[in-house]
Amino acid sequence: MNKDMSYKAVNDRKNEIMKKAVGIDYGTFESKGIAFDYEGMMKKVGYTIDEIKEIEGRTGIGNTPVYELRNLTALARKFAPEGKGARIFVKDEAANPSGSYKARRAAASVYHAKKMGYKGVIAATSGNYGAAVASQAAMLGLKCIIVQECYDSEHKGQPEIVEKARKCEAYGAEVVQLTVGPELFYTFLVLLEETGYFNASLYTPFGIAGVETLGYEIAEQFKEKEGKFPDVVVATNAGGGNLTGTARGLIKAGATDTQVIGASVDLSGLHMASDKQFNKKSFTTGHTGFGIPFATWPDRSDVPRSAARPLRYMDRYVTVTQGEVFYITEALAQVEGLERGPAGNTSLAAAFSLAQELDKDKIIVVQETEYTGAGKHIQPQLSFAKDNGIKVVVGDPKDQVPGENIVLPKDPSYIKVNEIKLDKLKRSFIKNAIANNSDVDITEKDIKFLAEETRKDEEFVKSILDELGVKY
Ligand SMILES: Cc1ncc(COP(=O)(O)O)c(C=O)c1O
Repeated sequence: MNKDMSYKAVNDRKNEIMKKAVGIDYGTFESKGIAFDYEGMMKKVGYTIDEIKEIEGRTGIGNTPVYELRNLTALARKFAPEGKGARIFVKDEAANPSGSYKARRAAASVYHAKKMGYKGVIAATSGNYGAAVASQAAMLGLKCIIVQECYDSEHKGQPEIVEKARKCEAYGAEVVQLTVGPELFYTFLVLLEETGYFNASLYTPFGIAGVETLGYEIAEQFKEKEGKFPDVVVATNAGGGNLTGTARGLIKAGATDTQVIGASVDLSGLHMASDKQFNKKSFTTGHTGFGIPFATWPDRSDVPRSAARPLRYMDRYVTVTQGEVFYITEALAQVEGLERGPAGNTSLAAAFSLAQELDKDKIIVVQETEYTGAGKHIQPQLSFAKDNGIKVVVGDPKDQVPGENIVLPKDPSYIKVNEIKLDKLKRSFIKNAIANNSDVDITEKDIKFLAEETRKDEEFVKSILDELGVKY
């Protein structure tokens, strides 16, 4: 009998397809309520951090250099109060084989897929991760399919994403390009089912464990070079795996006092799933369009339980504007001689502002750079923005309206982070957890879990439940 390939039927087979494609039975970590065993799931990776380092090292991943950005530090100090202006460092993750930290995120998945006898890997991503999976698959001799959401209904695509397809193809991957909308997940499931390939999802424990080595290395490098762990690490945040993995690695290395700050580009008001607004943004990742929904409900990812849970690890969450990131991208190239891509420069723009709050002897680390190739220069994105009716002006970034204008700061003193209220996000997280489990009775175990997920105490959770009128 032929399989029912309707949208509904394929979606109904989702759990069965995932089980085969990741080799993880997520059901074993679930309880009847909201709670699930996050650390138990992370252990399912089955490789220690030393083993992951070894796996990554085999394909040239990791041990990336750290640079002190002396000229940008001096520039930040010009605008800082007396005695302020922390030393800014950057970890040059662009030195990884596929040009970003995503190589770490792909390594354990692809290695594991090969070990388990899968013939190929599939990843749904339009970002740097596609290049990373394709590159790892090429190195390990596996087939690779990348599913991209890249066009609006007029077949127009962001320059950065369109170039990314070429990059993946250059590594020998097959790229399936789709228009924005729900068909992505359907196509992804059908491909997994038909090929029997491994789901190299961004959000499995393998992916996050792969990023732990980044935090671990940062802690070790600073201990060795500066005799102490960094005071602050800034991580660009979208789906949350970059921050989660880095923070877990820092903790594993003993850097428990290092403050972890998430940074995203402010795209408030733009809807990611909207065909019309898809090309009104000039950033394809590291923005609030992913950062906020994924922080407040991580399990919207392409596996039943996301291993990326940023609210567990974030000490602060700040935003910067598109114009500020374009500006700092040019500054990094012109005063430090490093041309790098937008994702890492999002946390660099934030660090430039945050450094001015900290004493001069403090250390602030931008935990990544990226450069996966063509399409990364700011010029194609700005031309594309103008073609889509976005005004590009020079002024005060506070006047920006995402989707209408890009405001390049008049001078560096205008680069200022905007604080996102974490407690508000934590409240949304609890609200979403309740909404997604409307048929369950809330137990003590659930309350404990929600406290862990939001890194708050049980009293906080109970106060939100009371506010929402939820019985427990
Ligand atoms: C180079 C780079 N840095 C940071 C991020 C953000 O990572 P995450 O989605 O895990 O928050 C991305 C995501 O696509 C990326 O490609």
